[in-house]
Amino acid sequence: MRLGTTLAKLQLLMLGAGGHARVLQEVLEEAGHSLAGFVAPSAEGSLLEGELSCVSDDEVLASFAPSDYLLINGVGSASDLGLRDSVFQKFKAAGFNFLQLQAQTSHISASATVVEGVQVMHQAVVHSSAFVDDNSIVNTGAIVEHHAVVGTSSHIAVGAVLCGNVVIGNRTHVGANATILQGVRVGSNCIIGAGAVVLHDVPDNSIAVGVPAVLKSRS
Ligand SMILES: CC(C)(COP(=O)(O)OP(=O)(O)OC[C@H]1O[C@@H](n2cnc3c(N)ncnc32)[C@H](O)[C@@H]1OP(=O)(O)O)[C@@H](O)C(=O)NCCC(=O)NCCS
Repeated sequence: MRLGTTLAKLQLLMLGAGGHARVLQEVLEEAGHSLAGFVAPSAEGSLLEGELSCVSDDEVLASFAPSDYLLINGVGSASDLGLRDSVFQKFKAAGFNFLQLQAQTSHISASATVVEGVQVMHQAVVHSSAFVDDNSIVNTGAIVEHHAVVGTSSHIAVGAVLCGNVVIGNRTHVGANATILQGVRVGSNCIIGAGAVVLHDVPDNSIAVGVPAVLKSRS
């Protein structure tokens, strides 16, 4: 669901209250929308602005009607996408829907496809015929070039570049300013280190760092 299409009757609830959630809150405000509240174990340490009510996961699941709320996944990641993915899956299983969010200075090609809960942040580009699956982030200034595919719950971090025809699996983190060369396939549950230049395919469950990127054992 795109921001601004059917928001009139729905209240917006942010999941999480850290740095990524705060950036999302600001993108929403720029488009004239405000949050009804946020979902976190406690309000302590919240980086969200304003007087917002805080509710727990359990309260939402027990007493909030999915038809009245639209969720925004504010759980970010600097490497492991497990939490972001599990939060999305848990609320989807309970019948909730997630907002697809596009910052005003981003560009999504008319021939590209971005689906539920995808967040395309400021100055990010999703180019011709690219596909970004559920719950993934194309973060500030990142580029998903033509015909590239990004799986579910993955994070293309700030300034990262996926050249044409790259394929990224599910729950994979592509680090800040990393570059994945054209046609390279990166598996699921991978971490590509910040600044890496990836020349060759990366198998599932791998970490790759450096220029050119090499596989590094998981500690
Ligand atoms: C790859 C990464 C996950 C490794 O984290 P880690 O497991 O905590 O690794 P450490 O910091 O303990 O470093 C382990 C080794 O890998 C090296 N290393 C870590 N990150 C590296 C990187 N991005 N490029 C090159 N080498 C790296 C370290 O120098 C160290 O080498 P050594 O064993 O020879 O001393 C992390 O450094 C990284 O790049 N995260 C991405 C951050 C990011 O994208 N943030 C954006 C948020 S929007």
